[in-house]
Parts: sequence; C-alpha cells; structure tokens
Amino acid sequence: MDLFNVYSIMDIEPVRGQGCYVYDKAGNEYLDLYGGHAVISIGHSHPTYVRRITEQLQRLGFYSNSVQIPLQQELAQRLGKLSGYEDYHLFLCNTGAEANENAIKLASFHNGRRKVLSFSRSFHGRTHSAVAVTDNPNICAPVNNRDHVTFVGLNDIEAVQSILEKRDISSVIIEGIQGLAGIYCPAPEFLQALRNICTQTGTVLILDEVQSGYGRSGKFFAHQYADIRPDIITTAKGMGNGFPVAGVLIHPQFEARPGLLGTTFGGNHLACTASIAVLEVMEQEKLIENALATGDYLMEQLKSIPQIKEVRGRGLMIGLDFGEPVAPLRSKLIREHRVFTGASSDKNVMRLLPALSLQKAQADAFLDKLRKAVEG
Ligand SMILES: Cc1ncc(COP(=O)(O)O)c(C=O)c1O
Repeated sequence: MDLFNVYSIMDIEPVRGQGCYVYDKAGNEYLDLYGGHAVISIGHSHPTYVRRITEQLQRLGFYSNSVQIPLQQELAQRLGKLSGYEDYHLFLCNTGAEANENAIKLASFHNGRRKVLSFSRSFHGRTHSAVAVTDNPNICAPVNNRDHVTFVGLNDIEAVQSILEKRDISSVIIEGIQGLAGIYCPAPEFLQALRNICTQTGTVLILDEVQSGYGRSGKFFAHQYADIRPDIITTAKGMGNGFPVAGVLIHPQFEARPGLLGTTFGGNHLACTASIAVLEVMEQEKLIENALATGDYLMEQLKSIPQIKEVRGRGLMIGLDFGEPVAPLRSKLIREHRVFTGASSDKNVMRLLPALSLQKAQADAFLDKLRKAVEG
C-alpha cells in the first residue's frame, strides 16, 4: 500500500530531537524555529515529559471514558489554575478541529441557533463544522455545507454588529491570533466590543486558541491581551508537545448531560499525562515569561533586517512579511543554514513558531543565519 499523497514535504527525515533542535539520519543538527507547526511547546524530548509518559505507559496506556480517570481532573485543575479559568469546565478530545467541532456544536445546543459568524482568512480545521467556518473554499467538499456561515473582515466591528443584531447567529468563532493566514492579531478593542455584542445578542463567543494558546503569545491565551473572557476556548497543538490532545474550556453557564459530547480516545491516560507534564514544565521553567521576553527580543531584532517589510505577532508566534515569496529563502535556510521555519497561506509570509523554551542565544543564532541567507 502507498500513502495517500496530500502533503508538500521537505526532503528531510528528522530522527531525533532535543530542545529547540532536531537531527537527521546523518547527525546534522537543525535549529527548529517551526516547532512542528506550533506543536512543540516545552522542547523536543524534554526529560520530564519522556519520564512521565514512559512511567504511565508502563502502568496503563489506555482505558476508555467509561471508567474513573483521575488524571483528567488533575489536568483540568492544573490547566484552570495556570490559564486563569478555574471556574470553567474541560472537555478533552484529540485535535484542534475536533475541539472546534465540539465548541460550535455545544453553542448550537445551548442557544438553539444554527448560523455561525467567522472571519476572512480564518483557519479552524478540516472536519465538517470546522472547515465550514474556515475561509478557504478549496478545502470544503460539497458535503461541507457553508450556507449557515458568514465571513466578515477581522476588526470590522460594524459588520459584526449588524449581523449579530438579528439575533440568529449561534456563535462567533475567532482565532486568538490568526496563524495560517500569516499572523494577524485582532485589535484588543475589537475583541472587547465583540465580547459585548455577543453578550447583548445571546451569541456564544468561541476563541480558537489552538495555535495561539498555551503560552505561545506570552500570555496563556492570546485573547488575554484584550482582558476578555470568551464563552468557549479551544486548545490543542502545544497542549501535548506532540502527543495528540485537545481541550474545550467551557463557561459554567453551559450545562453538561451524559451523551451530549463524546470521544473514544479523548482524555486517555497518556494524553493526560503528556498534558500534565507540559504544564509542569511550563511552570517550572517559566516558559510563558520566556516566550514573551525572547519573542519581544526576536521581533525587535527582526525589524532591523531591511528585506523584511513587516514583523507581526506576539511572543513566539511571529510572522515575517518579505513582500515577495519566501519559499526560496525557506529552502535556503534549511539546505545551507540548517534552520526550520514555517510557511503560511500568504506566500510572502514566513512563520516562526519555535518551542517556548527558545533561548536568547538561539534567537541570535537564528538572526545571524537569517541575515546571511537574505544577504547571500
Ligand atoms: C487556529 C487553528 N485552529 C484549528 C486547527 C486545526 O487543528 P488540527 O490540525 O489539530 O485539527 C489549526 C491547525 O493548524 C489551527 O491553526
């Protein structure tokens, strides 16, 4: 059997990782400024993470949600505490798309409405409801009906107001920072006004923090820069540092009942253990603070590179707009300087999504390699 060929892949096979580095078969070292697509939060193969998962696997790898799994409560408590959402409830699932799928469904169960408002250039995943609210018709199949979805421009509060006033929108879904689009931060005043209009019109506000959450922005969630509290928050990527795990954080106004939501694998022993290890390391090593400090430093330095037309982002979620396609530069960085970077749906924008443990010396090494690559 051959693989179903859907990915554009780099001609590299990493076989080992450590911290902010990965190594290929020949032992070549690559500085990882991409973090496997914003997934590596505490660094590759962190010893605490490896030890905790190994020990758990030796005890029990999996049992379904039909039994007591106290690790789920431990995770919920730790996550509530570190994120500032102690009063919310946690539903555990497996991927970002699945988290958004459940968030949209839960909102619709809650207010009985079926329409959703989303934003231009958004990405929310590839399952039925998630892809319908994603602004990319090319990845929607005919079966992914989008009649119930309206898209408006990011930060266009008048458009939002006129649509929500009709009081027939179930939920608004918005990324904490638009990632795939090329790193666009919603204005804090826009998020505050959006929060108010949602409250006034009985619309559920869903913050997709799948990419921008878990400390990446320099706060636990990127929307916390606007000092708002959404009704539902979704998280995945950095949550498991590579172990597939996702979460839906749900305001206490939503009532749970048996069978309302469900999943076979969500909240399994290994996923919870991986997520607890991530939170433990984030706290011990002050990785949110580090993401903010190293990110600020990196962004400041990047602004002095004349070939970069615009630097956008927060913390270690950074977009570099070169005003021309970045594909040749990205492949040069890999081949000649051994650095991984990310692309975006805008061919002119390079994304930096390293582990939150990136050190200043590693940021300097990257800057040095980038300067050489753009000049040479
Ligand atoms: C903001 C956002 N939401 C949802 C998703 C989908 O996550 P997953 O690929 O885990 O389904 C992604 C993935 O890139 C994302 O960036």
